[in-house]
Amino acid sequence: MSTTEATTNTTDATATASAATAEAIASAEAHSAHNYHPLPVVVASAEGAWMTDVEGRRFLDMLAGYSALNFGHGNRRLIDAAKAQLERVTLTSRAFYHDRFAAFCDELAALCGMEMVLPMNTGAEAVETAVKTARKWGYRVKGVPDGRARIIVASDNFHGRTTTIVSFSTDPEARADYGPYTPGFDVVPYGDLEALTAAVTDDTVAVLLEPIQGEAGVLVPPPGYLAGVRELTTSRNVLFIADEIQSGLGRTGKTFACEHEGVVPDMYVLGKALGGGVVPVSAVVSSAEVLGVFKAGEHGSTFGGNPLACAVALEVIAMLRGGEFQQRAAELGDHLHHELNLLVGGGAVRAVRGRGLWAGVDIDPARGTGREISEQLMERGVLVKDTHGSTIRIAPPLVISKEDLDWGLDQLRAVLSD
Ligand SMILES: Cc1ncc(COP(=O)(O)O)c(C=O)c1O
Repeated sequence: MSTTEATTNTTDATATASAATAEAIASAEAHSAHNYHPLPVVVASAEGAWMTDVEGRRFLDMLAGYSALNFGHGNRRLIDAAKAQLERVTLTSRAFYHDRFAAFCDELAALCGMEMVLPMNTGAEAVETAVKTARKWGYRVKGVPDGRARIIVASDNFHGRTTTIVSFSTDPEARADYGPYTPGFDVVPYGDLEALTAAVTDDTVAVLLEPIQGEAGVLVPPPGYLAGVRELTTSRNVLFIADEIQSGLGRTGKTFACEHEGVVPDMYVLGKALGGGVVPVSAVVSSAEVLGVFKAGEHGSTFGGNPLACAVALEVIAMLRGGEFQQRAAELGDHLHHELNLLVGGGAVRAVRGRGLWAGVDIDPARGTGREISEQLMERGVLVKDTHGSTIRIAPPLVISKEDLDWGLDQLRAVLSD
């Protein structure tokens, strides 16, 4: 979309939501659990970086499904790959082989510079798989006495919503009322290498970290932290598990956020963009020594590694192999951060963090909550999401044009100066 169209769009989006929106929201709320608090917009279609609601208003998507839509809405290559596979075979279960499986595993392992892939569906399932893998590796390979394996995680982590994963969350909203909690996890402050070093014992099997903490507000650890974690885990025979579900696959300007420190973990946990915003696809990717611990029947998923998922993910991998998306995220990301940093200290913005096309913007609470700013941006045709009270997250699809990004930034500046 051109800037002119985008400007027209402002007028559309500013128009008061009609009965159609109100009705759609009321009926959604009537029959769904209230475990989300969406912005009051009802999307009907989308293309590239733009979404259109039930009233025909257009919105610039600056969230991209929390990075699941790195390649934009309705990406032609991904839709074509999905359509072609839909006509052939969609599901076999892992009771049988199918003809997209080998290529998916080979090519994903190659993209990661690893040897083996264990496919799942959602991010949380992949994290659960990583936890099970690390424990099994600890008992079978490292020689930790039965039942004693421990995994170190970071404060303010977000790794998903299962009972085991929320057991090691430090966010009361995510954790309260879900006990009894799964034992075996030690929490240390994120970015604090000394605390992490002190927490490692002979029973530690893994350190599980987000290389950049997304849900916490796009927190980038201090320089040298990831490299330090790599050195520590290697020296103590502990697995370094990088949860790159949100940070990986191009978002930060590299295929993996760990690359910014020249670090290769023992295990990547991937999801979100691996399914191209078309189908849920996740995976654990590691060495043969680590993923080789599983024997038949010891772990699995009916839909994990299904033909449709593999076909779409294969196209995602092919797109990432070219490097253009990473380069685009790096270049547009530099521009985004330059512009956002100009807002710091101007009264409304307290801090900006992030890397590539990914930013957490801390709004001065006196100016409004993250939710209020998100609603005001929505009124101007831009969709973002708040987190932790006063932060907004910006993560547009990597296919966004510079003109559209600039238009989105104009709207932010306008909201903050209102
Ligand atoms: C770093 C990270 N890990 C895991 C998850 C969980 O993924 P899913 O919602 O697909 O279960 C998320 C989701 O936001 C995430 O950001």
